[in-house]
Amino acid sequence: MKTTAPLSRRALLRAGGGAALLLMVDGCGYYAEGSGEAYAPWKFPDGETRPEWLAVRAALLAASPHNTQPWLFSVSPQAVDVFAALERNLGPMDSLRRELHIGLGCAVENLVRAARANGREATVAWMPEPADATHVARVTLQPAAPRQDPLYDALARRHTHRGVYVNGPLPAGVEQQLQVLVDEPDVRLFLLTSSGDMERFRTETVRATRAIVEDTEMHDAGDAWVRYFKEELERNRDGATIDATGLDWTTRSASKLLARPDPKTSGQYWIQGTEARQLTGSAFGILATRERNDRIQQMRGGRVYQRLHLYATSVGLSMQPLCQLPERQDREEQLGLASDFGHVLGELTGPGWGVQMAFRMGVSWDEPLLSPRRPLEWVTR
Ligand SMILES: Cc1cc2nc3c(=O)[nH]c(=O)nc-3n(C[C@H](O)[C@H](O)[C@H](O)COP(=O)(O)O)c2cc1C
Repeated sequence: MKTTAPLSRRALLRAGGGAALLLMVDGCGYYAEGSGEAYAPWKFPDGETRPEWLAVRAALLAASPHNTQPWLFSVSPQAVDVFAALERNLGPMDSLRRELHIGLGCAVENLVRAARANGREATVAWMPEPADATHVARVTLQPAAPRQDPLYDALARRHTHRGVYVNGPLPAGVEQQLQVLVDEPDVRLFLLTSSGDMERFRTETVRATRAIVEDTEMHDAGDAWVRYFKEELERNRDGATIDATGLDWTTRSASKLLARPDPKTSGQYWIQGTEARQLTGSAFGILATRERNDRIQQMRGGRVYQRLHLYATSVGLSMQPLCQLPERQDREEQLGLASDFGHVLGELTGPGWGVQMAFRMGVSWDEPLLSPRRPLEWVTR
């Protein structure tokens, strides 16, 4: 329904909140959470029964940096080939394209789990064509008995949760189970659960967030992937959204009605959100590999991240990546700066490991909201 009077968005907000008011301004670009074509892929499996297509539908529900979804798939009943869509990179926010490859690893994990749950053994060959760096994996499919898998069952319920978590210990047994799931070569999980380690991680993550915000090029590159309005959300079906910020309903609704904030203001919101909500929880995790800049190890790290998040979902725990520290480490390497955040990460893991991702885990007070996804037709060739 369109407004009949020429009210400004700010005037409407001043006039009071409430659902009726928001319905009135639908024509301004306000969008309801999780509804519309941008969220349709979450209706998984949506009647699909062919194993190879189920596998690809599962893959596109994977986590990716800033929801860039940097993937393309070529599908046949015998194999799914996975390609990097390198143009969907975060620029200076992912200076070394490291996170892009982690996201591809996340997609491969979902793909493999879905194939195995639906009657196909799935074998991954990384970088099958040395001459084509964009051809990142071939997943060969062979008929096999379907596997029962609680992580597969959690696939369409896994969402990044950026709200407040309870500050208490992890439930008994979770830490051991996480370590069992880290079974890719060269990948290791460092779980920070002591108050000293957790406080260090919090302090350094806030410091890294501030460093990113102060680095205009880096912050702007990330900000370009934030979708504020209905039109840009539906046109792109990607990116970070207001609904996925972890903010309360009133603040989210207000943000959708206001103009796009300038980069300085959005940077302040990010710092405030990090300090106020996003450092709560039971534990911080750091996923590291032997060679930080090795593409295959990055993708293996991505497989493990996705697996841990699926496991957390299956046992009712929430997760959120918090990658400001490794993002800043990349930027230091790109610009040839002295190692500040890289040094901090080295102290947290000890020598011989390169950090790929950091995250928090815990019990949240509410359910996370969905992020948009590009449809199958846009990501297959
Ligand atoms: C390599 C990588 C880095 C990420 N870094 C962050 C981060 O620093 N902060 C954050 O809130 N989410 C981060 N995410 C989560 C993505 O933003 C999220 O997966 C994406 O928006 C899609 O949402 P979904 O996970 O709910 O499906 C990261 C994801 C990946 C794969």
